[in-house]
Amino acid sequence: MDRTIAAIDIGTSKICTLVGEVGDAGVLRVTGVGVVRARGLRKGVVTDVGEAAQAIGESVRKAERVSGCTISRAIVGMGGTHIASLNSMGMVAIGKGDRPIDREDTDRAIEAAKAVPLDHNRSILHPIPRSFIVDGQDGITNPIGLMGFRLEVQAHLIIAATSAMQNIQHCVEMNDIGVVELVIQPLASAEAVLTAEEKEAGVALVDIGGGTTDMAVFVRGSIWQTLSLGLGGHQITNDIAVALHTPFNTAEDVKVRYAHALYDTIDQTEKIEVTTFGDNSVTSVGRREMCAIAAARAEEILDAVGREIKRSALDGLLPAGIVLTGGTADMPGLRELAVRQLQVPVRVGVPRKLQGLVESISSPAYATAVGLLMWGANKQTVATEIIQQEGKPKQLYRRLLDLLKLFLPRG
Ligand SMILES: Nc1ncnc2c1ncn2[C@@H]1O[C@H](COP(=O)(O)OP(=O)(O)OP(=O)(O)O)[C@@H](O)[C@H]1O
Ligand SMILES: [Mg+2]
Repeated sequence: MDRTIAAIDIGTSKICTLVGEVGDAGVLRVTGVGVVRARGLRKGVVTDVGEAAQAIGESVRKAERVSGCTISRAIVGMGGTHIASLNSMGMVAIGKGDRPIDREDTDRAIEAAKAVPLDHNRSILHPIPRSFIVDGQDGITNPIGLMGFRLEVQAHLIIAATSAMQNIQHCVEMNDIGVVELVIQPLASAEAVLTAEEKEAGVALVDIGGGTTDMAVFVRGSIWQTLSLGLGGHQITNDIAVALHTPFNTAEDVKVRYAHALYDTIDQTEKIEVTTFGDNSVTSVGRREMCAIAAARAEEILDAVGREIKRSALDGLLPAGIVLTGGTADMPGLRELAVRQLQVPVRVGVPRKLQGLVESISSPAYATAVGLLMWGANKQTVATEIIQQEGKPKQLYRRLLDLLKLFLPRG
């Protein structure tokens, strides 16, 4: 029977809620999309609870209207530069070696791998088993059913700021929606755009959003490194705004319409009209000059990505190169600039293997949201519906709440 699930990606630029139906064969059909401009967030973390909660609510209601469902629970994507990762080992004994390894043993091994010293306000959000070793035999992906005395796990631990997690959860719950699971954004993006071959060969997923650039590096089929850099499309827009003396929103519009990362390919005589501060006059500026500003910041972001790959000693270990995604990956010429600068294969990753309302979300900006939905679809443990299909009483309750808010003094 079909299962209906929901996902909310809380980004710095936009909040995107998706509703999807998981078919028997694991086919995912998107039945609801709700996108609103993000508010109350900076570089992936909540800075204004009221604003952020309200924006989340608007996005959810849009997706509810399109899908005809009421969302009562959702998988939620979160980001921020507080995200870090480390690889750890855990070991447990399996009695006298007279019984097969079971789920409880693998859970105990993972629990042992989680015993690492953490700074104050840090929690392990995802303990991901990379591979298992049974009695010294390594490279085992699933040890359940094997006989052995000793089980070891190599685990990738994704660590996040506890308060940032609580804030995101609180903003979602303020909309009367339960959080099934908080998922780090680059993990979700990887789910949506990477192929199994790329992960096996070695690949870096690079999600360049508005506020952050998130990375998830895969080696030999499993995740090796996860991190988030405080650089993104907002800085590109900001540079254009400062250079052209124009408001941020105008600069954003100019960037999305005309920016090209290979600025030297742009005709030197091409002009664009821009409304500037002061007397609001319309000024004509060279498109090539504007592109040079955007390209300089794009180069800086790619430079930081290259540095992180080098720092983790993974350069040379990623034959599948880099897969760019996130809204900024839509900038023409960015892929070519990355190839030129980082000297590795680069492609732009767009969400794959979807049915239903795919048109509006078939772009790199929706990799995370689609990945969250896929995450939920793959979770066998989430047996129950994430959505309340009938939902009428809840809808009525929400409308009453909205009405009530109209009469409350604004804080
Ligand atoms: N054609 C384009 N050229 C350049 N930049 C673009 C283009 N289209 C979108 N962008 C940029 O992509 C960014 C938004 O990307 P995305 O929607 O992935 O961000 P987000 O997920 O909300 O933010 P984050 O992941 O950083 O929290 C914005 O800075 C936007 O200007
Ligand atoms: Mg994002």
